[in-house]
Amino acid sequence: MATIQKEPYDELEPLEEFEELEEIPKESFEPEPEDGETSKFFSSTLNPFLNSVFPVLFIDNKFKILYANPSCEHLFTGFLNLAGKYFIDIFGKFFEMSAIREIRETILQGNNGYSWKGEARIKSREMATVQTRVYLFSADLNIKRPREFVVMFDDVTEENKRLLRSVFMSLLEASKLKDNDTGKHIIRVNYYSRCLAEELYHKAGYDRIDADFIDNIGFLASMHDVGKIGTPDDILNKEGPLSDWEWTVMREHTKNGAFILSTYPNPMAKEIALSHHERWNGSGYPFQLEGEMIPLAARIVSIADVYDALRMERAYKAAFSHEVTVQKMIESKGTQFDPSLLDVFLTVNQEFNSLYEQNKD
Ligand SMILES: [Fe+2]
Ligand SMILES: [Fe+2]
Repeated sequence: MATIQKEPYDELEPLEEFEELEEIPKESFEPEPEDGETSKFFSSTLNPFLNSVFPVLFIDNKFKILYANPSCEHLFTGFLNLAGKYFIDIFGKFFEMSAIREIRETILQGNNGYSWKGEARIKSREMATVQTRVYLFSADLNIKRPREFVVMFDDVTEENKRLLRSVFMSLLEASKLKDNDTGKHIIRVNYYSRCLAEELYHKAGYDRIDADFIDNIGFLASMHDVGKIGTPDDILNKEGPLSDWEWTVMREHTKNGAFILSTYPNPMAKEIALSHHERWNGSGYPFQLEGEMIPLAARIVSIADVYDALRMERAYKAAFSHEVTVQKMIESKGTQFDPSLLDVFLTVNQEFNSLYEQNKD
């Protein structure tokens, strides 16, 4: 059985307030539960939370997790069996240091009537970040030195994500009014990028791909050309080949996109917009980055974007079949595309074809 990590709590100053408190008669405390046994009080307080939609943890005054209700186990599926572990060991890294200090003082010194509220961002590699408001309060309203506490999580992830993404979706819609790329192209690029990222998640050497990366690239890939909102219409819609000067203006869409997306909280948005035209051998734009200097997300989107562009009919080219498209992409392995990523693309190329077919214009 795990033993409590004593150091942080041993440093605690003697509790002056408690010294001034009247001696609490011993009988007002429930007897210490036997090891593994739950106190009477604990089980009666627990009842209302058993089937609650609110994710709730019970912890004791030594920060040991006594119980996590099904909603809580569901919310934190990335952490197996919360009960029996120590709250700070599991959740400590997801709070600001100041919040940890406050929680400790709340439980040990009874600040604010043994209650605390704050925020936490909780994640593991397998689990996308969960943004929560956290409420901690005594599980016992009657005794002066409670032994058990309720920790309630209010999951605001979806709410926050919806708000944030709706703002950027509006930008995307605005850019689509100008760009002649179809709406379905950007949706497909999201799907392909997510598919490649999911495949990489299981491969050695791609530890930075976690659940957040997959979730984010599946939304942000569609933003790759949002900077075209700043490209003049006559260049964007020109039928014939572009002059050198026009190409210079056209290439600016990468920098404009990065500028537009610079307020997005995840830097991946900027990386994709700025670097999706860079090439593995350094012959791309805007900065001629080469190899792994090009952000991974941009290297993934580059494969997704080019695959789709080849499959589509454009004013200057016919639509290529899946087979011809794959062949053309193989020819650019190591020049335009990251060779390892292209190999992964080849293992899932049939899925790309299905995604194209299912989401045709
Ligand atoms: Fe582009
Ligand atoms: Fe595109």
